[in-house]
Amino acid sequence: MDEISTAYEVDMDVINTPKETLFNAILNSNSNESETGTGTGTTTESTFRFKCPRKVINADLTNDGEDGMIHNLLSNGFDTQKPTIFLAEGLIMYLGNKSEQFLQDLNTLSNSGESNYWFILNFMDSPDIHHYDKARWTSMSKDRIRELLQEEGKWKDLKFNMFGDEILNYGRYDNQNYDPTKAFSFVVCRK
Ligand SMILES: C[S@@+](CC[C@H](N)C(=O)[O-])C[C@H]1O[C@@H](n2cnc3c(N)ncnc32)[C@H](O)[C@@H]1O
Repeated sequence: MDEISTAYEVDMDVINTPKETLFNAILNSNSNESETGTGTGTTTESTFRFKCPRKVINADLTNDGEDGMIHNLLSNGFDTQKPTIFLAEGLIMYLGNKSEQFLQDLNTLSNSGESNYWFILNFMDSPDIHHYDKARWTSMSKDRIRELLQEEGKWKDLKFNMFGDEILNYGRYDNQNYDPTKAFSFVVCRK
């Protein structure tokens, strides 16, 4: 984290504002070493010393244009030329038919051609969950994700893993009693 130039946290205002208030209260009350730190946000400013500069960005990812992710990141100093790790954990299932737009936006943010980018994404290929809570969660097939990322976005080395397989296991998954599950499966790729 010490070497990261900026960490951007993107979420909706309705989540960011109370989260910042709560985190600041916890961090500041727990820390005797509280001093003016490098962390800043668009919502509130913390006095806690973070490991790297931090920006909290308010954006509803189902919006486009001035209300969307690209505009809000760029107008807050996000530098598309810098090596970047994009992490979207537990997100696309909330975006409904805008989840494809979200992946296309990430393709755009990572197309400078000069840099190194990594992308970590989960929640795909989950018909069981789709079925279980159809009204709230949507899922995208592995094939469609491959099309959007690999063919359209030029991401490479896509590695898909699911909980309980030989990689996403860490000796914790109970393979004796459960089969590997597609729920919460991950793809990691780079370009
Ligand atoms: C399961 S949580 C992910 C948690 C995250 N990986 C973390 O460790 O903090 C899902 C997050 O997606 C956010 N989210 C859902 N729909 C969104 C939208 N339309 N635009 C922006 N963020 C959204 C929620 O507010 C929530 O913070």
